[in-house]
Amino acid sequence: MINFKNIIAKEIAEIVNINEKELESYIEIPKDTNNGDYAFPCFRLAKELKKAPQMIAEDIKNQIKIDEKIIDKVEVAGGYLNFYIHQEQMIKEVLQEIANHEEYGKSEIGKGKNIVIDYSAPNIAKPFHIGHLRSTVIGGALYNIYKYLGYHTIGINHLGDYGTQFGKLIEGYKLWGKEYDIEKDPINELTKIYVRINQLCKEDEKVLEQCRMNFKLLEEGDSYCTEIWEKFRSLSLKEFQKVYDLLGSHFDSWNGEAFYSDKMPEVIQILEKSGKLEESQGAKIINLEDKGINTPCIIQKSNGSTTYATRDLAAILYRARTYDFDKALYVVSYEQTLHFKQVFEVAKLLGIDEKYTNGLKHVPFGMVALPTGKMSTREGNIVKLEELLNEAIARAKEIIEEKNPELQNKEEVAKKVGVGAVIFNDLSNSRIKDEIFDWNQVLNFQGETGPYIQYTYVRTKSVLEKAGYVPKIEEVQYDKLLDETSKNIIKLLYNFENILEQVTDKEEPSILSRYLIDLAKAFSNFYNDNKILVEDKEIQNARVYLTYAAGKVLKIGANLLGIEMPDKM
Ligand code: ARG
Repeated sequence: MINFKNIIAKEIAEIVNINEKELESYIEIPKDTNNGDYAFPCFRLAKELKKAPQMIAEDIKNQIKIDEKIIDKVEVAGGYLNFYIHQEQMIKEVLQEIANHEEYGKSEIGKGKNIVIDYSAPNIAKPFHIGHLRSTVIGGALYNIYKYLGYHTIGINHLGDYGTQFGKLIEGYKLWGKEYDIEKDPINELTKIYVRINQLCKEDEKVLEQCRMNFKLLEEGDSYCTEIWEKFRSLSLKEFQKVYDLLGSHFDSWNGEAFYSDKMPEVIQILEKSGKLEESQGAKIINLEDKGINTPCIIQKSNGSTTYATRDLAAILYRARTYDFDKALYVVSYEQTLHFKQVFEVAKLLGIDEKYTNGLKHVPFGMVALPTGKMSTREGNIVKLEELLNEAIARAKEIIEEKNPELQNKEEVAKKVGVGAVIFNDLSNSRIKDEIFDWNQVLNFQGETGPYIQYTYVRTKSVLEKAGYVPKIEEVQYDKLLDETSKNIIKLLYNFENILEQVTDKEEPSILSRYLIDLAKAFSNFYNDNKILVEDKEIQNARVYLTYAAGKVLKIGANLLGIEMPDKM
């Protein structure tokens, strides 16, 4: 598709002799359409050209060569140059591109680049809670979008299947295993054991010591400990899978922390050799004070067991060798910011190419609180995600029963709406923000929600059904779409690919969810302002086609976020 920004930048570059790419990055999209489709802020050049912005604007305007088929006019407004794109040209570009591409917005800009995304990563024998949901949903959306832009994408579920908590669980199971039916309801029962053993550990230092010992034994391959561990792991995975099935999550690798148990000695060896590994009260640590990090990174505990950090270091080494990644993203709560700072710093000592250490990136997100407060496994005060999703589905079903009792496949639609609502809710604000989960907001069909996007899509579908046809693109007369509400949709559609690129630049799926809200609103305005099915066949063809195009992009966008679209609701 024509890149208008690029054309404008090229022409300006002819005049001012500054790199085209740089000029392109200055170009803005004015909020008010009266100020044109694109604006070039000349004050960015004032210093370099030693001239007042307005004079620069005048100069460029007088000298610039523009193709009238593409740009209608250029105007000076203060220090800005405003460009007005030839509207029919824009409409033609966008609609033809949509007509000719099943996968509109898909590109190859990521070709040849490998992106590792570490997301979800719940902990074995603990509930899959609402915090892991955020990671699963944000990571999943990034995964889909990177892939759509041509990147080779590897999704990894770095399961928390190792660590001291297993020492505790093994101890609890040894003490009271017979009292709990872990086959029947594994996570709940194991959680109860976990809560109980934690309590005991608080009261009795000796039990805590025994728990640590158990983990040590597990690391050394003790057969009893390993057997129990395996049982916990496979029972838990079966439970997690129920949530992944509801969400439609996909992972290319399930290598969790335990996978690195035999890969840690090499890490320790490399760090020993680096001369940076220090002894401190029997433990092995890396001091990071000179890097501005006051807490040292513990590589090996005093009893010889490894740590979460060591396993992440082994994972970096493994992923660099196995996937040759350009970027490795960690979609993990901001609570672990210090952990990743430490690990990424220590990774520089592993002797791997700088390309890899530069590619490591923590993608933090805020906490989710239910109206009752923060959730923690240790206290046993948690909300299970599977229950939450099922409740969303049940609530969506109720709404459907009330609004559209005749609907067919109610179950299936309720699932798409309920799950879609939860997913969208998690992606609708910038990821770093803390979030309060509020049912009324999540499932509000009129609010800025998943159901609202789905509802708008369904509306486009019903318009097409009433029309009974989608015209061929050759039958569309572009000059029939010059009203404000149509032009707004066109502009948004034109921007879609750019929005996807912004998501990957900032690792921020909310840019796309925001966009979908804007597109849905633009369609609602168009729908309210214009009769679509009218006498005049030419007008009808154009409006039906625009409806089709808007619906198509809403669906592609929602799918990229991991949300399924019902055809009716
Ligand atoms: N299992 C961890 C948790 O629940 C998250 C793991 C994130 N990934 C990583 N490579 N450290 O907090």
